[in-house]
Amino acid sequence: MDILLKNGYVVDAANDFEGIADILVDKGKIIKREPNIAETADKVIDCAGKTIIPGICDMHVHFRDPGQTHKEDIITGCEAAAAGGVTAVACMPNTVPVVDNAETVKYILDKAKGAKARVYPIGCITKGQKGEELCDYAELKAAGCVAVSDDGKPVLNARIMAKAMVKAHYAGLRVISHCEDPNIIAGGIINSGEVSKELGVKGMHRISEDISTAREIVMAGDLEMPIHIAHVSTATSMLLIRLGTRYGAMVTSETAPHYFMLSDEKLRLRDADYRMNPPLRTADDVAAIAEGVCDGTIDCIVTDHAPHAPEEKADFEKAPNGVVGLETSLAATLTALYHNDKITLKRIVRLMCVNPRKILGIAGGALGAGDIADIAIFDANEEWTVDPEKLHSKSKNTCFKGMTLKGKVKMTIVDGKIVYEDK
Ligand code: DOR
Ligand code: ZN
Repeated sequence: MDILLKNGYVVDAANDFEGIADILVDKGKIIKREPNIAETADKVIDCAGKTIIPGICDMHVHFRDPGQTHKEDIITGCEAAAAGGVTAVACMPNTVPVVDNAETVKYILDKAKGAKARVYPIGCITKGQKGEELCDYAELKAAGCVAVSDDGKPVLNARIMAKAMVKAHYAGLRVISHCEDPNIIAGGIINSGEVSKELGVKGMHRISEDISTAREIVMAGDLEMPIHIAHVSTATSMLLIRLGTRYGAMVTSETAPHYFMLSDEKLRLRDADYRMNPPLRTADDVAAIAEGVCDGTIDCIVTDHAPHAPEEKADFEKAPNGVVGLETSLAATLTALYHNDKITLKRIVRLMCVNPRKILGIAGGALGAGDIADIAIFDANEEWTVDPEKLHSKSKNTCFKGMTLKGKVKMTIVDGKIVYEDK
């Protein structure tokens, strides 16, 4: 036997189990999960006082590989993942070149072979992410894609999006929609409101996100096709998703920790590490997103891990949008929601481990006998201060810098092997 995890507090939402147990791992599989396992193993790890969950699946990351590996590559991105308890990532296709054909998918999967996390490519909805011609979804699926998205850009033409939803569904791929109307954004760089006015910078009006979210929900309902809404950031979009699901539209959605933790007040610092798209919104939005995460309206917590080099982030107004997040997502979620008694650990496991895999149709997310041994172990009460220089990611653009978070990943196991240990 390879590894025995002793006396951890196991939260296995998929199997409706929560309690102290041992976990025995051999050859990449969980052999047993029960209290007081008598067998021993090559490595016995005392997990008393620690929490054990299935490895996190982050279904929205940008690894910049191919093409912009000065920001991140697949290997360093997976190192950041491992340090965050993330054992599976789905990579957005806005690389250089974009992922709109089997050859680029193959490049990603080949490079990911030696990486510390499982890598699942997402293909483009449209060729070149131009919003005009649909990709060959059967080809993308056969090559190994788990979803399609033009993330970073919306598919502006509703007729093309409707076709994509139908074709992708029959090819076995979920469409992930980046909801934005560039005609409304018109050069805006932060949320449109008091802060943008005071700073004298162009705002990104919430209408941009909300009308696009409404369109996707209406189309999903009328076409009876599923849609996944990426990075939800506004109270109105949350309401629209709540209504849509209530009336039977097949809508799933995700948000990121910064949207339920930080408001646009942060932008007063004129620091581009707080700029992402969609932008940090108001305190009311932050509260609405937190509520949607806690009441089950939102299906998944993702990071939208978007590395950018320090030189690129240096100019507040000209910097590209995006923040890294893989190494802080669990800790931020525990800090903002669990330690404030707003959410249970089981719900966190559903949001971060179970639901993303269900939506993408990939294995894992459970800790029962026979399940794959992809595991995250954390100390829910350990406090630490986020130091960008200590991140494993090539880029340091975290909006949690300097914050003290409560909850620290101690060990990550992928395929029965320890890929990260906090020492
Ligand atoms: O902040 C963002 N960064 N939002 C996006 O939609 C794209 C992403 C990126 O690729 O940097
Ligand atoms: Zn993104």
